[in-house]
Amino acid sequence: MDSQPAFIGMDLGTFKTSVVSSNGTRDSIFSAVGWPKDHVARAILGRDVVFGTDVVEKRLALKVCRPFQRGALKYLDSAESGVSEANLEQHKEAARLLVKHAVSLTRPQPGAPIYGVIGAPSRASIVNKSFIMDVASDAFDAVVIAPEPFTVAYGMNALTDALVIDIGAGTIDICPLYSTYPTDEDQVTVPLGGDFVDEVFMRLMSERFPEAELSPNIVREIKEKYGFVHDIDEKAIVMLDVKARPTEFDVTAPLKEACLTLVEPIIEGLREVISRFDPEFRRAMLSNIILAGGGSQLNGLDRLIEQSLEAYGGGRVRKVGDSVFAGAAGALKLAMSMPADQWDQFRLHNNSSSLADAA
Ligand SMILES: Nc1ncnc2c1ncn2[C@@H]1O[C@H](COP(=O)(O)OP(=O)(O)OP(=O)(O)O)[C@@H](O)[C@H]1O
Ligand SMILES: [Mg+2]
Repeated sequence: MDSQPAFIGMDLGTFKTSVVSSNGTRDSIFSAVGWPKDHVARAILGRDVVFGTDVVEKRLALKVCRPFQRGALKYLDSAESGVSEANLEQHKEAARLLVKHAVSLTRPQPGAPIYGVIGAPSRASIVNKSFIMDVASDAFDAVVIAPEPFTVAYGMNALTDALVIDIGAGTIDICPLYSTYPTDEDQVTVPLGGDFVDEVFMRLMSERFPEAELSPNIVREIKEKYGFVHDIDEKAIVMLDVKARPTEFDVTAPLKEACLTLVEPIIEGLREVISRFDPEFRRAMLSNIILAGGGSQLNGLDRLIEQSLEAYGGGRVRKVGDSVFAGAAGALKLAMSMPADQWDQFRLHNNSSSLADAA
């Protein structure tokens, strides 16, 4: 007889994968996989495949794949994502290894069936839902794919008259909640996110300070530490190398300009979502907006969205308490609340993979 199942909630993001388990473990790793470039690298690293911070730290010795970068394979069909056929196989293998590694981090009891809810972008296409099912099939005995913003809302008991805005690395997903399972048509996915802010910030920095030596990691770390969108008196002063010599730069203006690029698309997406509802539901939803995902941590974003909503009669915006684990924790709560017979429907030899299919 099977032992007690292990339940897992997973947030499979462009940038990071977070995983929370019913046995109390929680972990978050970069959504990236590294393979040693040659046999020397393989001998030094002592592994065939590398995960987590090692992918960044040892990157010179690795061939690195971010399988969901720019939403490739995730919210776009592979043809649209610009990933070649050859790369597609590599992305698939990387995604498979990543999911398997994330599950192994939860240390499930040997022999116990593993049931998981995976948060996927709001409007992952059928093709991409089946891609996720496929890469998850090695690691789980049964799997459900739920929209990421829904798992956040479920975790916060905000399933009635609420709006979740999940600001990730690749996409901003806006999802209305009105006491039922959200359909694909309810939701809006804006194809922008933290990666886009990094690109703009990098461009503005190289225009203004061409002498400063930058890398994508440096740019991202500055944004995560100082990023803001409101009017502040403080300045963002950082040390950057110029010809290998640390030098002080005031990056306040380019940083703000880059971070602000997300605000208009968020308001536009919100407007699109709420315009589909009657005015009384609109009012209720606008007064219960939840910002999730790493981008929710941009200083002042909640207040700026509230200000922008004044034209729509006002709104109330709050941030999730824990932007790293909110999606995965909600997915776990969903997994643990599903009765055993419903899990049987999601056994991986079945084709149904989303709660909407089973409803
Ligand atoms: N304190 C912070 N301030 C601003 N941005 C941040 C902060 N912390 C993380 N981020 C950004 O949030 C993004 C990652 O967010 P998150 O981990 O929610 O993405 P993801 O779930 O992997 O992506 P997606 O949902 O698009 O697939 C990155 O661009 C990261 O730089
Ligand atoms: Mg995400």
